[in-house]
Amino acid sequence: MKDLLRQRVAVQDSIIKKLNNQVKLEAQASAAYLSMAAWCDQHSYDHSAKFFYQQSSEEREHMMKLFHYISDMGGIAVSPAIAATQNEFSSLREVFETALENEIHVTESINQIVAECRKASDFATENFMQWFVKEQVEEEFVVRRILEYFEMLGEDPKSLLLIDERVNSVTYE
Ligand code: FEO
Repeated sequence: MKDLLRQRVAVQDSIIKKLNNQVKLEAQASAAYLSMAAWCDQHSYDHSAKFFYQQSSEEREHMMKLFHYISDMGGIAVSPAIAATQNEFSSLREVFETALENEIHVTESINQIVAECRKASDFATENFMQWFVKEQVEEEFVVRRILEYFEMLGEDPKSLLLIDERVNSVTYE
């Protein structure tokens, strides 16, 4: 009976494995953003620090969303080990470039899960993952737009202050 109950909600093991890998990526992103926030704080980029503290919290929420889904679907959610994060950056621009690289990596991983779900006709998980697809569009947009400011304004001290002041006002409509 127990097996039958599990089968009714089970997601394929290969997809559970990918979802757990995504849990790890989100946790890693949360840790990476925390390091970026600390660097920004240390260099008096207060608005950017706030931006990355917020991003770090959001990534943890993403991780938990996946974690609960795995459990709810009868899988075993694995609390991930986190690798050391980058703590030193040469500039504020490098911080945002690194953030964009991370987000692109996360997007690729999410797309792979969606592709796998389609192959397995796992429409429930595909539907669940669509929230993440949308979220990535927004997150990449915001960081790309901030990086455009560096292109437009340059990186002299006044420009950096101006960019820092604007980071939290960038929104994706
Ligand atoms: Fe949840 Fe930005 O990856």
